[in-house]
Amino acid sequence: MGMVIGDVLVDRDRIRAMCAELGGRISRDYAGKDVLLVGVLTGAFVFLSDLMRHISIPVSVDFVAVSSYNHGTDSSGVVRILRDLDTNVEGRHVILVEDIIDTGLTLQSLRELLRTRNPASFAICTAFDKPERRRAPIHVEYVGMVIPDRFIVGYGLDFAGRYRNLPDVRILKNENEGGIPCL
Ligand code: IMP
Ligand code: MG
Repeated sequence: MGMVIGDVLVDRDRIRAMCAELGGRISRDYAGKDVLLVGVLTGAFVFLSDLMRHISIPVSVDFVAVSSYNHGTDSSGVVRILRDLDTNVEGRHVILVEDIIDTGLTLQSLRELLRTRNPASFAICTAFDKPERRRAPIHVEYVGMVIPDRFIVGYGLDFAGRYRNLPDVRILKNENEGGIPCL
């Protein structure tokens, strides 16, 4: 069965308000501190670029890329680093920026790895959160929006590498549910 791009779940105005709210909170919580935003490639780059422009304190930015494990066969949740940080995080206030948290296995693994490098503090900021699907008990300090257990695309989130460019977040559906056919 084919997949189609369905209804807007989160529109661009709500996304903008969400980024302003999170950026404001981070600016207040980290006032006077040396913050490093670490984006998880590829999905988080859109959110990170919006979020950082709502942060009013000086921040640095770096990125990490991790391999996606196979959800069906691998229950360990250990991710492999494909692109490591350029920055030494020792003594830095690290905020890991993600597009979406699903099982939580990716972030749990990344958190354990970065903690061994002795940052001054560590927090997680995600645009979207699907808590119903959580398998790893991770604490998330900054959540933009809690969403239902649906697969979403747009605003950096992809399906088979596509649709990251959609300005609104949309639900991916089976074609018999109606919607715009995928390419
Ligand atoms: P986790 O390790 O299961 O939390 O996986 C998180 C990653 O899975 C995210 O960074 C996304 O790359 C991907 N992902 C999870 N849910 C979705 C979704 O609804 N749409 C697109 N990507 C998703
Ligand atoms: Mg991702």
